[in-house]
Amino acid sequence: MLYKKLNNGIEIPQLGLGVFRTPSGQDTENAVKWALEANYRHIDTAKIYGNEASVGKAIEDSNVKRSDIFLTTKLWNDDIRAGRTEAAFEESLKALKTDYVDLYLIHWPAEGFSEAYKVMERLYEGGAIKAIGVSNFHEHHLEKLAKTANIKPAVDQIESHPYLNNQKLIDYCMKNDINVEVWSPLGGSLGKTDVLHNEQIGEIAKKYGKSIAQVIIRWDIQRNVIVIPKSTHQERIAANIDVFDFELTSEEMQIIQSLNCNQRVGSDPDHFDF
Ligand code: A2P
Repeated sequence: MLYKKLNNGIEIPQLGLGVFRTPSGQDTENAVKWALEANYRHIDTAKIYGNEASVGKAIEDSNVKRSDIFLTTKLWNDDIRAGRTEAAFEESLKALKTDYVDLYLIHWPAEGFSEAYKVMERLYEGGAIKAIGVSNFHEHHLEKLAKTANIKPAVDQIESHPYLNNQKLIDYCMKNDINVEVWSPLGGSLGKTDVLHNEQIGEIAKKYGKSIAQVIIRWDIQRNVIVIPKSTHQERIAANIDVFDFELTSEEMQIIQSLNCNQRVGSDPDHFDF
């Protein structure tokens, strides 16, 4: 597994398991268990996913030390708007059955995010959070936050896959020493995009004896972003981390890069209604 260093020196595994839309209970417990068995050491959840308790249980039941796992959760929009950052954070800790998280993110740029971030800075300084950051922030949201923040966000977690590479925002973040994490790297749940059936990526996959999903995840590794594919299937979870034994050429990287058609699977952070 490759690690990346965040702007505060904390190390993060470049590949993690996402659990958005993974139902709480057995589904999430199994996904996390299988991921840990396949040597994932990075799990990404959020309060709004409703499965923090299942993530916590799976970690507790595993024989992997908590300190060897990079655990991310996120502050939900209603809690940002209601000014209840600290209470929401405590609820997340309790559900996760832990006394710290490795990364805590503002989930969306909801009204009040600058104030919420101030509270996160305090929690970070107190040691209950190892790194703080944001999610679904455009450049202008990052610039607004920079006006009041004392601590630069360690990451911006954004939607990015071959049909929405979001490269301009990624370049901006990299220039500003903010690591980028990409969600829905495989184009989202079935039917959202057909990127997992893309013929050009399929040809590259055939050359290496890999799947299209593995080629996309490898493309993310090589373009230096942190990637959190999700799956509820054991064999896919294992396959998605099996991407460290081949390397795409710069021409192949460019082919995948050129598939961009700005097709979102989620909301535009400038127009979300939740
Ligand atoms: P499933 O749970 O049925 O495996 P995202 O791009 O948001 O990470 O979503 C990818 C979707 O594609 C998931 O919902 C997952 O559904 C499916 N998926 C994940 N890994 C693979 C894979 N290796 N091959 C095919 N489908 C995959």
